[in-house]
Amino acid sequence: MSQTMLLLPGDGIGAEVTEQARRVAEVIAPDLRFEEGLVGGASIDANGEPLTVDTLVKAKSSDAVLLGAVGGPKWNDVDRHLRPEMGLLQLRKGMDVFANLRPAFCFPALVDASSLKREIVDGLDIMIVRELTSGVYFGEPRGFERGIGDKSFGYETSRYTAGEIERVSRVAFDIARGRGGEVASTEKSNVMESGLFWRETVTELHATEGEGVKLRHILADACAMELVRDPKQFDVILAGNLFGDILSDAAAMLTGSIGMLPSASLSYEGKPGLYEPVHGSAPDIAGKGFANPCAAILSLEMSLRWSLGQPDAADRLFAAVGNALDAGARTRDLGGTLSTQEMGDAVIAAL
Ligand code: IPM
Ligand code: MG
Repeated sequence: MSQTMLLLPGDGIGAEVTEQARRVAEVIAPDLRFEEGLVGGASIDANGEPLTVDTLVKAKSSDAVLLGAVGGPKWNDVDRHLRPEMGLLQLRKGMDVFANLRPAFCFPALVDASSLKREIVDGLDIMIVRELTSGVYFGEPRGFERGIGDKSFGYETSRYTAGEIERVSRVAFDIARGRGGEVASTEKSNVMESGLFWRETVTELHATEGEGVKLRHILADACAMELVRDPKQFDVILAGNLFGDILSDAAAMLTGSIGMLPSASLSYEGKPGLYEPVHGSAPDIAGKGFANPCAAILSLEMSLRWSLGQPDAADRLFAAVGNALDAGARTRDLGGTLSTQEMGDAVIAAL
């Protein structure tokens, strides 16, 4: 039976970059069937809300979802709960994709594109496992009060249950076993109760289910520092939602361009995964046709590996991106001149 991918291009450069991923899919996975839907600002414009029930139902009944990006200045003034980003958060929550895999891999051809020295990033290969459906992003209560003086405030709740920490830690341990065998778990246990709870829960799980995995704990601020001082010390980094968001942007830039980095968000086995480039909608360059499609193409690669049961096709696609870069293919963010479409052509030619 043919598999279905729901394509949600979203806003800004989302449409341009996912179009190239789709072209690549026609070559590498010709049996994959595509459906399309709206999310973010595109859905606000068409439906008055950033994610419809119908789109969520489609997402949950597909084999994988490929999303471009959401957001842009056009929707700056819509109500907070209707913002484009809320569509993305509702989709992540609704699909229960609690484990967000963000690889930071430096392609050999791009070692000099990084703002860090070549020897610091040459051979870099980190996997960040970010908890994606809880923590401060979703914790209740939260609010925004307007009053006089101290009666004006904004707040949220950083809350994690043991089960939420355990399920994402299990994914991190599993992934580490298939790589370098090391997990660095990060939090702020020195100032946050939820951070201390995170640390203790990960430690306890490691004692019973951590065979073959070397675990260490590092405070999130120190982790940020070490990521730019000596990133190759890390194998798998495990983080909650907020610190994972921040650390993965920092890790992305080690590799030369955030335009290169894909992500996979996984739920329990057998449930569809959500695949998205780590970069945003980049409204400043949207529609100009020179955004880097590699992150979207590599997100397709991750979907072949993690949801669609086609690891060989994934390997070939990953190699093709590397070969295209070796042959000199570069979009502007990488110091080149290729258009989005031409970069897609280069990957297809390499395939
Ligand atoms: C990300 C993004 C999102 C997040 C935004 C767009 C809501 O920064 O995927 O890293 O904060 O999770
Ligand atoms: Mg982010």
